[in-house]
Amino acid sequence: MSDFSLTDPIVIQQIDYRTVLSKTEIDAIEHECALYEERAAAGIDAMQIVQRERRWISDECLYAIADLLQMPVVQLEGVATFYNHIYRQPVGEHIIHLCDSISCWLHDFPLIGAHLKQQLGIEFGQTSADGKVTLLTNVCLGCCDKAPALMHNGDLVENLTIESIDQLLADIGVKTAKSGGKA
Ligand code: FES
Repeated sequence: MSDFSLTDPIVIQQIDYRTVLSKTEIDAIEHECALYEERAAAGIDAMQIVQRERRWISDECLYAIADLLQMPVVQLEGVATFYNHIYRQPVGEHIIHLCDSISCWLHDFPLIGAHLKQQLGIEFGQTSADGKVTLLTNVCLGCCDKAPALMHNGDLVENLTIESIDQLLADIGVKTAKSGGKA
């Protein structure tokens, strides 16, 4: 599994969430906190709220969210690392999670994965040079009977073929080798 967690050590020591998060973000996170007995339980929700606004969770945002939730930043970072749809590095406009679990693996994951990497000119865990597409792997997406499958910006795409991959890339504006070379 490749995720977009952070590999470098965090250097920020302390941050006041009010200097980083917007009022809209703070209000939305407080709303989520009210649904739980412990503020820390709203960690994933809080990061999703901030990620919706900013597309990824910077160190600064991570510290701000931990401050708002009154929880250790290391604990929040652990949650972010475990949940591979929280991005701790900048991501492209289009995020593709290709399932690499057993059913998809047996149904042409190596072929589909190699084709995606070749068309995008990147490896798993990278973003295309134009910043348009981030390519990641993912554990089972829950549609094994329609393997191979991927998730594109939250939407499932099932029964993948080379042709359907090329169509997806064309739809999001990536020129494939077939259509005249990568954008
Ligand atoms: S193994 Fe890929 S969707 Fe389940």
